[in-house]
Amino acid sequence: MAAQKKTQTDAATLSAPRRESVKDTILALLESVHRPGMDTVIKMLQESNFFTAQCNVHHVFVGGVAKHSLGVYQRMVKSCPDQPRDSIIVSALLHDICSAYHPHWLGIGGHGRRSTIILSSCGLQLTDEEYRAIRYHQNMPTPWEALRHPLRKALIIADLKDAQKYPGSRRVFVDWLTELFDY
Ligand SMILES: [Fe+2]
Repeated sequence: MAAQKKTQTDAATLSAPRRESVKDTILALLESVHRPGMDTVIKMLQESNFFTAQCNVHHVFVGGVAKHSLGVYQRMVKSCPDQPRDSIIVSALLHDICSAYHPHWLGIGGHGRRSTIILSSCGLQLTDEEYRAIRYHQNMPTPWEALRHPLRKALIIADLKDAQKYPGSRRVFVDWLTELFDY
């Protein structure tokens, strides 16, 4: 309980310079992916509230979406070094793009689906595995699916584990899901 209190306090005091550092790191990583549509994604991220938006269930503080996205990337780099670097960058940093607001981004689709719709509207070309990982990052994979699609499995586990770092009121639910997926 004490640890959770400390975490929430730390979250509430995430400084502006720290948020800028997170933003710079994310932009540098995305710029390193040379792919049609990435320029548009970066431009629209900067026009949106992606770098100040907060998550709903965890990372509930200004800059939470960006900090969480970078946290997922850092976990995936360690957990799946055999995956293409660009795929880790794209799937980790953009899986929650739907949590940000931009006037040109439609509100259609669920969480993962909406992220893929937004990326598609920016003209970003996703590989099949990147699309699958982002589209279904909140859907429970069967063990067979997880074996066949390691990028998706890695994103789901990294997403859930990073969510625990700054938990919201649904922490018990997140804990349960993490155990379920961590095979
Ligand atoms: Fe996420």
